[in-house]
Amino acid sequence: MKIVILSKGPGNYSTKRLKEEALKRGHEVRIINYAECYVLVEHNKPVVRYRGEEIVDVDVIIPRIAPGLTKYGGAVARQFEMQGVFTTASSIAIARSRDKLRAIQILARAGVETPKTIFARETAAVDDLIEQAGGAPLIIKVARGTHGNGVVLAETRKAAEAVMQAFYVEGVSFLVQEYIEESAGTDIRAFVVGGKVIASMKRQSLDDDFRSNLHQGGEGKAIKLTDVERRIAQKAARAMGLPICGVDMMRSKEGPLVLEVNASPGFGIEKVTGHNVAEKIIEYIEQSSKGTRRKDRVGA
Ligand SMILES: Nc1ncnc2c1ncn2[C@@H]1O[C@H](COP(=O)(O)OP(=O)(O)O)[C@@H](O)[C@H]1O
Ligand SMILES: [Mg+2]
Repeated sequence: MKIVILSKGPGNYSTKRLKEEALKRGHEVRIINYAECYVLVEHNKPVVRYRGEEIVDVDVIIPRIAPGLTKYGGAVARQFEMQGVFTTASSIAIARSRDKLRAIQILARAGVETPKTIFARETAAVDDLIEQAGGAPLIIKVARGTHGNGVVLAETRKAAEAVMQAFYVEGVSFLVQEYIEESAGTDIRAFVVGGKVIASMKRQSLDDDFRSNLHQGGEGKAIKLTDVERRIAQKAARAMGLPICGVDMMRSKEGPLVLEVNASPGFGIEKVTGHNVAEKIIEYIEQSSKGTRRKDRVGA
């Protein structure tokens, strides 16, 4: 098959691993920087060009779109979709997952438990808002943050008010969330391929940070999920329309709560767990890329 990895970083570990495994299995692979692609919109002929040439005869794309380029990268991926190219993550599902408000609404509708979340644009009803979120301490998140950037723990009501005010002044959309104190500093990443969890790890922040993101200095350890956790992760993936994704969960007193579903999860989990994630993805592509394309049924 002719596989295109849409990635800005050919030196990126995940990209390198995908290429390696695809080559091993006899596929043709090309890494294309979607940020340098340009799209020709013509009647009945969706064209993608890159560095002066038209990209043709692609069987599969693997979008690895950076959070800062969701819109542009999504448009490039969509152009391939319009050509009928199989994708490991549809552009619409990527867009859904990158907006924390939209994602949490979709998850809740599907019956996936998340921390209690409120979103607001103004601080007019700030007292009620804080009360509804269970009072301070609470978490405030920028709607389009990632890698733990833009996630704030407001320890007091005053601090919460100040943070909301700042976001409001800057015109940033945010959500307010109940603080899951009992597992602060740790979370669980379940890596889903083909709708099934194939690897999982626990991430722990090494200092007193409540955020466990590896990008914030967190450390990963392989763990075995409980049956309930595995089912919830798979349900979250299905709800978001992402057959390949990283589901982040917290172990709360009331059971597992889903924080977010990542459409371009990093492959650091390979090093932590020893599972060959890249190979699983190529296998999934081989099995799924033939036959009719699945329609997106999420409807949000
Ligand atoms: N409601 C919460 N209660 C406690 N800790 C949280 C909560 N939400 C997020 N965290 C911590 O912050 C980290 C980053 O939050 P997350 O929503 O995943 O944002 P990002 O997209 O930036 O990774 C999580 O991995 C978790 O460790
Ligand atoms: Mg996260």
